Amino acid sequence: MTNGQAFHRLLRMVAPFWKMVLASVLLGAATVLSSVGLLGTGAWIIAKAALHPPIGDLNVAIVGVRFFGIARGAFRYGERLISHDTTFRVLSRLRVWFYAALEPLAPARLQRYRSGDLLARIIADIRTLENFFVRVLAPPWVATLTAVLLTGFLAAFAPRLGLAWLVFFLLAAVAVPVWARLRARRAGQVLVSRRAALNAALVDHVQGLADALAYNYATTQRRLALRLGEEILGAQAAMASLEGAEQALQILFSGLGMLAVLLLGVPLVRAGALGGVTWVALVLVALSGYEAAFGLPTAAAFLESNLAAARRLFELVDAEPAVKPPAHPAALPAANDLRVEALTFRYAPDEPPALRQVSLDLPEGKRVAVVGPSGAGKSTLIALLLRFWEYDEGRITLGGRDLRELLPDEVRSRFAVVRQKPFIFSGTLRENLLLAAPDADDARLDAVMEAVRLADWLHTLPQGYDTDLGGQGLQLSGGQRQRLALARALLRDAPILLLDEPTANLDALTEQALVDTLLETTRGRSVLWVTHNLVGLEAMDEIVVLYKGEVAERGTHTDLLARGGLYRRLWDLQRQNLVEV
Ligand SMILES: Nc1ncnc2c1ncn2[C@@H]1O[C@H](COP(=O)(O)OP(=O)(O)O)[C@@H](O)[C@H]1O
Ligand SMILES: [Mg+2]
Repeated sequence: MTNGQAFHRLLRMVAPFWKMVLASVLLGAATVLSSVGLLGTGAWIIAKAALHPPIGDLNVAIVGVRFFGIARGAFRYGERLISHDTTFRVLSRLRVWFYAALEPLAPARLQRYRSGDLLARIIADIRTLENFFVRVLAPPWVATLTAVLLTGFLAAFAPRLGLAWLVFFLLAAVAVPVWARLRARRAGQVLVSRRAALNAALVDHVQGLADALAYNYATTQRRLALRLGEEILGAQAAMASLEGAEQALQILFSGLGMLAVLLLGVPLVRAGALGGVTWVALVLVALSGYEAAFGLPTAAAFLESNLAAARRLFELVDAEPAVKPPAHPAALPAANDLRVEALTFRYAPDEPPALRQVSLDLPEGKRVAVVGPSGAGKSTLIALLLRFWEYDEGRITLGGRDLRELLPDEVRSRFAVVRQKPFIFSGTLRENLLLAAPDADDARLDAVMEAVRLADWLHTLPQGYDTDLGGQGLQLSGGQRQRLALARALLRDAPILLLDEPTANLDALTEQALVDTLLETTRGRSVLWVTHNLVGLEAMDEIVVLYKGEVAERGTHTDLLARGGLYRRLWDLQRQNLVEV
């Protein structure tokens, strides 16, 4: 995306607020003009007073000083009020817009981004855009308006005064910011990219602190952060000295502009074309008018950083969702028979298929197990059922309808899932359970906790269901997290259960017990049970053995044992382990 396109899209996002923009530009110009009026009338009074006029001659100008003095404050206040109010409105719209755009991208399209990078985009980039309105859009218009009015005002006394003032105004308002932008480009890019890198590195560092400490990797990471910090400091120093130069140049041009009006006025006063007192006032009017140019270098700098931030946001938002809802979705069928027919799937066009010609039948109320070694494609199958990724070859049907004809959210409403790496939200135990069934009462929660073998643990918790599980449930063991996720799945009244290795982190005894109750509790519901642990499979209606993305064999437990294939070998291996333990 080019800067121009990004700029246009940003403009379109603030377009609904154009009245506010206009108001803040007018108020901004009025503020500058009040300063000009204040200095002009002030200078006039002083110059006039030196000539000892009757006091009545000063009266109008004194009123003018009062007026401009008060108006300046009032205008500035109004301008700040409007522009900040608008900024916060724009920001909240941006956040909502960004989050809404992000949702359909999860999880397939977001896995490319490091979580620190994602966080930086959501927080820092959007906050950068906060400047777009106040510091980028308005100042050039304020400057233009002021320049037109003041050039006209000065030219009304003598054209050359207006012209001279304008030349130095253009130098201060256009030449200086452009020059500075060209000089700052490199440092600015370094700053943005290093800041993003530092952000990502810090998030990695904090999240992975325990592993980093265990492998003595922390020092390396600290050094990386330190190096990035030094580079950022260097770039900031370069930017700061450039900013200093910018300000110095602007002040220089203001002074020169004032000097030009002063010198050009001398012959006019001598010739009697301009009154001496007026001349003094005009010199100060000229000087104070340059105030309108002072915000422009900042505007140019912010424009650049805003465009960079906007491009990063748009790039993310524009990513095609992996699964696009159909334009004319079919109604969700009442039946829950699930069929997978000759499904072939690759994560990327140039990768080998993660699933190849996989077929599977899960009639309503039946139980099918998918077993196979790690990397066989079991979780991939579940991700496809949940519509996290799109498939092109083969079909998946629910109640006879291809999933591609249905709304992804509606498809998901038929499933209760235990993902292989379940996410526990920061919050209390109750909150984590109720997200699956908001109306469940304690009796129901108790029953489920009993079923997943967490009842004993629950009784040890000081505040029971209201115990805070800490940030992302990190205080829980792997097995506890998994059983909690299982409890959530049981609470959710969905006809089909998808269980991705729900017992992987459990000891053999707990596992056996859990499997028994699980089979008992889920009676009547369809269950797709994914596992590489061959426990409890006697009760399955069918077992599908996946190997490297393909169905290697299928049948009931007894069939497969009798066949002496892969399943038999896995079974023997696991039993041997059990015996040895
Ligand atoms: N999000 C992903 N992006 C790209 N490749 C993936 C992704 N998830 C899994 N894979 C690949 O697909 C294959 C099957 O993985 P997976 O379905 O997780 O196996 P299993 O659950 O049976 O252990 C593996 O080769 C794995 O590297
Ligand atoms: Mg898996």
